[in-house]
Amino acid sequence: MTAPGWPARLACGAVEVRPLRARDAGAWSEVRIRNQAWLSPWEGRSPALPPASWRDRHSTAVFAAMLRATRKEARAGRVLPFGLLVDGRLSGQVTVSSIVRGAFDCGYVGYWVDERVAGRGVLPTALALVLDHCFGPVGLHRVEANVRPENTASRRVVEKLGFREEGLHTRYLFIDEQWRDHVSFALLREDVPEGVLRGYLAERLGG
Ligand SMILES: CC(C)(COP(=O)(O)OP(=O)(O)OC[C@H]1O[C@@H](n2cnc3c(N)ncnc32)[C@H](O)[C@@H]1OP(=O)(O)O)[C@@H](O)C(=O)NCCC(=O)NCCS
Repeated sequence: MTAPGWPARLACGAVEVRPLRARDAGAWSEVRIRNQAWLSPWEGRSPALPPASWRDRHSTAVFAAMLRATRKEARAGRVLPFGLLVDGRLSGQVTVSSIVRGAFDCGYVGYWVDERVAGRGVLPTALALVLDHCFGPVGLHRVEANVRPENTASRRVVEKLGFREEGLHTRYLFIDEQWRDHVSFALLREDVPEGVLRGYLAERLGG
């Protein structure tokens, strides 16, 4: 089975996104464990699973299982699981998931970066690359992002890329042992006829 637009490698300067590989396991485990305090306020987990420590949830064995599962989903066209590299070093992820085709043609984006590279426009650049790919070869019409109201950094990212705020999802995701509200943002293909990356870079140079 092949999925439109997958696999893909996309790059802009020092920022690159590409499919995660088995040999990323050590780097993924190291960066995720080191960033526990930075990432844990924003990441959900299933309340049905027994609580596990952050370290246990980020072992190389967990990475291998995640990779197996997401590769299968990617081949079926339901997810685009990109690793994010800065100067060749694994520094984050951008994942478009729950892709539904037909009359909806929509996916939901999630992302994170290593705190060491934060504040340099790495994630907006990577997300702009992925969005242009979604609206181009993948053929999506709509991409949604859901963000906790207090996550100012993530809200800035979607604002910079032109997402529209659409509403509030009450008690939407189970994060840090509570169901947390999320603000819903969306971007449509026709919102960005010139391309997301092009608009972002023009804004950066202009601003
Ligand atoms: C949200 C996130 C991906 C943004 O990535 P990024 O590459 O730092 O994005 P930007 O460089 O555009 O910075 C976004 C905002 O972060 C804030 N910021 C800037 N420098 C920062 C730093 N050194 N440390 C923390 N936040 C910083 C600023 O508010 C900035 O907005 P501004 O450019 O208007 O000043 C990143 O903060 C992150 O991984 N956070 C933890 C996980 C998370 O929240 N994921 C998203 C869940 S919805």
